[in-house]
Amino acid sequence: SLPQHVRLVEVGPRDGLQNEQQPISVADKVRLVDDLSAAGLSSIEVGSFVSPKWVPQMAGSAEVFAAIKQRPGVNYSALTPNLKGFEAALAAGVKEVAVFAAASEAFSQKNINCSISESLERFAPVMAAAKAHNIRVRGYISCVLGCPYDGEVAPEQVSSIARELIAMGCYEVSLGDTIGVGTAGATRRLFEIAARDIPREQLAGHFHDTYGQALANIYASLLEGISVFDSSVAGLGGCPYAKGATGNVATEDVLYLLNGLGIDTGIDLDRLIAAGQRICAVLDKPNGSRVARAWLAK
Ligand code: HMG
Ligand code: MG
Repeated sequence: SLPQHVRLVEVGPRDGLQNEQQPISVADKVRLVDDLSAAGLSSIEVGSFVSPKWVPQMAGSAEVFAAIKQRPGVNYSALTPNLKGFEAALAAGVKEVAVFAAASEAFSQKNINCSISESLERFAPVMAAAKAHNIRVRGYISCVLGCPYDGEVAPEQVSSIARELIAMGCYEVSLGDTIGVGTAGATRRLFEIAARDIPREQLAGHFHDTYGQALANIYASLLEGISVFDSSVAGLGGCPYAKGATGNVATEDVLYLLNGLGIDTGIDLDRLIAAGQRICAVLDKPNGSRVARAWLAK
């Protein structure tokens, strides 16, 4: 049976905006985060503490954290690839961070400039510092259904890295289809294999919609008992290290699917659509959510 409640992790302010070339003001980022929490999102990824040479758009993340209206009950998180990033996040008052690994060696090198095993070694001091400061750590794995450089990725490889991240202390691991190549059958199989060793409650799905398969993959994941999904308002984004990758599945589209299934999320579709419209106006881009476009055309 399908889960009764789903938690959506809104990654638009991070995964969405990180790929934008044009400067976006701190005020516009803050407004986006505040609009999203007002729409009922309970988990929002606000930014990244990474090298500004690698991802210039995320350079102002500390300022964004300082200015958002922190609503009670909402988790505001940030990516931290190493101890330097963790310390910057801590200084900015961040209460939840995420470490990010890859399931393929080539993507690991392109994204964080080290091998998979080196990345896990770098996460160890982050995990220790997080524990000492009572900070929750989420884990990500990229390229779980295919890599732009290495091609096919074995589900067992994904599952084994996920196990390591959980063993290191991550409360949840999000499996990322970075380039959106996955299909429903492969997605089901991946979660079925991962769930042999990891409780389903500790697994999440992160789908980019490059091939238009994200909603089908989310439905397949729901059938496997997965109840946490990452999504991006207005389908913002892409990945700077995966050429041609489009944004994450649009939060509005996932919400419409879940509403239709009678699955509770606590999110208000009208307010969410308004949040998406506002950031698209700032970016001067069409709204990437099919649901938002249809809703507004009614
Ligand atoms: P590196 O060059 O190997 O690092 O990069 P380094 O330790 O040798 O340091 C080089 C320079 O970066 C030094 O500065 C450091 O101080 C600085 P310099 O002396 O040259 O002036 N530095 C930092 N600055 C700020 N914050 C830090 C930090 N660390 C070092 N935390 C590193 C390694 C990991 C830093 C780099 O590769 C990096 O920042 N990568 C980030 C890549 C990234 O953010 N990718 C996008 C997010 S992941 C994603 O989108 C996938 C996901 O959505 C799931 C999916 O879809 O698959 C999560
Ligand atoms: Mg992503």
